[in-house]
Amino acid sequence: MSSTEKVELDPAIRDAWHVCAVAADIAPGATAMHCLFGQRLEVARDAAGRPVVRGDGRVLPALERYGFIWTSPGTPPEDLFPLPGYDEPDRKNVVTGSVGIRVSAPRAVENFLDMGHFPFVHTGILGEEPHTEVKEYAVAIDPVADEVVATECQFYQPRAAVGSSGGAKTEYVYRVPHPFCAILYKTSPFDAVRMDIVALFVQPVGEEEIIGHTMMSIIDDRSTATEVRHFQLTIFGQDKPILENQRPRKLPLDPRAETPIRADKSSIMYRRWLTSKGVAYGVIPAP
Ligand SMILES: [Fe+2]
Repeated sequence: MSSTEKVELDPAIRDAWHVCAVAADIAPGATAMHCLFGQRLEVARDAAGRPVVRGDGRVLPALERYGFIWTSPGTPPEDLFPLPGYDEPDRKNVVTGSVGIRVSAPRAVENFLDMGHFPFVHTGILGEEPHTEVKEYAVAIDPVADEVVATECQFYQPRAAVGSSGGAKTEYVYRVPHPFCAILYKTSPFDAVRMDIVALFVQPVGEEEIIGHTMMSIIDDRSTATEVRHFQLTIFGQDKPILENQRPRKLPLDPRAETPIRADKSSIMYRRWLTSKGVAYGVIPAP
């Protein structure tokens, strides 16, 4: 598809915030060109340092959250989804890299939710044989927050975090608070109570072309930001070819469209949630 193709957006996507730039990349006085939904965007800052986004011949809504600049082609809510923990003063918040991938945004979110691929794709880091079984976990739609939440997820990981000193049974909680964003809370090697945060914010450049932005908010005063970034980019680099080989590139919302192994419980719930919201971008709607 052409990257300037004009598409009609469904209201759920049109009126949501979408990540469009790494905040640190937009220096005062500079203007960067970006792309969202096949449309060009100009991203800059005003004299006070606030983000300014222009597209489609007008000034679009803009805000800066979690290390990124967000915009919307429609009428977005006042604020972005909350990220509890992010503002704790002893956390290390690191923008861990942005990777261009030839896939739809929902496929990237679905892959992020899938624990089954850890031993095979992230061998020696997030999984390893013979620990290949995805144990029973719970998944539901939180009706108040309007998000998909998966809890009680656990997986044996040889190197769960950049600061890990060995293998550990790692607990996960997943949130999908936005059709194209997913957040993972996982056991911290340095804190018995609080969890590390790994976020995937997907910028839909086109229906089958994205920039996957990642961010980590971790409790770790030993690792450097460069080490955190390298760890995360290694993992995401392993996902890129897997994502680019997915066919169809758009996510089929019909639960019968793919085998139950690929479309596991959280994926089925995510697809159902997208269907209930009327999301049509980057998906093949259910008949
Ligand atoms: Fe992965």
